[in-house]
Amino acid sequence: MRISVKFGAAEKESVEVIVISLFENVRKIPSELDPLNKALGGVISNLLQNKDFTGKLNETIMIPTYKKSVPKRILLVGLGKATELSSDKIRQAAGTATRIIQEKKFKNPLMLLHKTEYKGISIEDVTRTVVEGVILSLYNFTMYKTLKKEDKTAINNFTLIVQKKDVLAKIKSAVKNTQIVAEAVCFTRDIVNMSGSDATPTFLANKAKEIAKKTGVKCRTLSRPDMKKLGMGGILNVSRGSSQPPKFIILEYNTKKRNNDTIVIIGKGVTFDSGGISLKPGKDMDLMKADMAGAAAVLGTFKAISNLKPSTHLVGLVPCTENMPGGSALKPGDIIKYMSGKTVEILNTDAEGRLILADAISYAKRYKPDAVIDIATLTGACVAALGTFTSGMLGNNDELKDRVKQAGEKCHERVWELPLWDEYYELIKSSIADIKNTGGQYAGTITAACFLGEFVENFPWAHLDIAGTFLVEKDTPYIRKGATGVGVRLLTQLILDWKKLPDARKKRKK
Ligand code: BES
Ligand code: MN
Ligand code: ZN
Repeated sequence: MRISVKFGAAEKESVEVIVISLFENVRKIPSELDPLNKALGGVISNLLQNKDFTGKLNETIMIPTYKKSVPKRILLVGLGKATELSSDKIRQAAGTATRIIQEKKFKNPLMLLHKTEYKGISIEDVTRTVVEGVILSLYNFTMYKTLKKEDKTAINNFTLIVQKKDVLAKIKSAVKNTQIVAEAVCFTRDIVNMSGSDATPTFLANKAKEIAKKTGVKCRTLSRPDMKKLGMGGILNVSRGSSQPPKFIILEYNTKKRNNDTIVIIGKGVTFDSGGISLKPGKDMDLMKADMAGAAAVLGTFKAISNLKPSTHLVGLVPCTENMPGGSALKPGDIIKYMSGKTVEILNTDAEGRLILADAISYAKRYKPDAVIDIATLTGACVAALGTFTSGMLGNNDELKDRVKQAGEKCHERVWELPLWDEYYELIKSSIADIKNTGGQYAGTITAACFLGEFVENFPWAHLDIAGTFLVEKDTPYIRKGATGVGVRLLTQLILDWKKLPDARKKRKK
């Protein structure tokens, strides 16, 4: 689908449909819409006066005009109260309208951006969220469906029409950049939605190579012998029960220059989490095909960043393995050893994510990182604590955590901090090894983060637990049931907004 931008008078466009957004309880039609309203014989103002359309968020009405030389249908969509506008509401309204256009199989819709600023949100930001709403809402996972020919009709060209010429260039560049990010989100959703038997560690490694080839990013993957040489005790042991070979993916965008920071992003790539010998119950086990959503978010972020080309040095580390209960599988009671010499008592083989992330966090050290961010579907406890709209965040550096929080708010992939105080670290001490891989009944998200914290050295680090946000159970205005692609927009935003981290703030704080 092409998204184009055009300057012009909406009333002169004889298209199949034009989308117009309106605030709630507006009695009088905005003056910018007067010409269109007049051309249609006052139909919009009549609707508003008679309250047939009230403008509640995501409310829609399709008005046929059937006149020549004007749009053939008007699709009104509500933005909610003007005083309560947020960019996510714009994203939702754009998504809602787009879904209707898709259902009706219109091929060349138009969307009118009739203002140059929406309640303090600049026209560029409005454009960004609209484009996200359009592309993300159209995403549908059809890889395993036998589609009939008529199901395949799609929107050809989505045109944004603006009424001021001087904003055109800005809007065009916003469209281009947003399209890159939104398409990266869809790429991530696709691989998260795939079956565990298809999206294997080898598959992810090949995807990473594909991205690298297209964009000039460096990519290497480590196999078992390389991992053995390095002493990657986590991934080697977690993969023992599986017949799929583990892979450790290393991506590198931009090499370190004297004056740019190095950011390492790490994604949990458990391509199927059965729990291992500590087998999970059958109910909802299918969802554990998506236990590589962190890995997929890192790959998607690389796709976006390598096209947007910011100046930061970005490294991606993605440990990939299945967690299966084979005959050689890791057992509860086993003690494993890491490259740093640290030993871990395994109490539950289902706490496998932290085991493989630990290898990646240790590996990150060689890049002398200015910041390390890991993203993982790590704990059910995070879903219990924060639900499904918010990711958990823990870390050792206030400045980094602030930046992650702000990036999350900006793109509406919001995070909320949980504490990582010293007392919690006590909960993972082991009587027979250095630490253990579970921390008891309480504060499961925090003790999992403490486990990771044990492998963090003197660099700023933030951990994102996306166990609640990697999927939605039912359709929302711009996310269909299934993978959300969470993390791609957040990490991309963080990296695009990155400014050199002041040295004084790099101190480690538990
Ligand atoms: N991948 C799961 C966590 C998870 C659960 C993600 C539900 C998304 C939805 C993780 O590997 C796991 O099994 N965690 C255990 C840890 C426990 C054994 C300490 C959990 O949360 O139950
Ligand atoms: Mn698990
Ligand atoms: Zn897992």
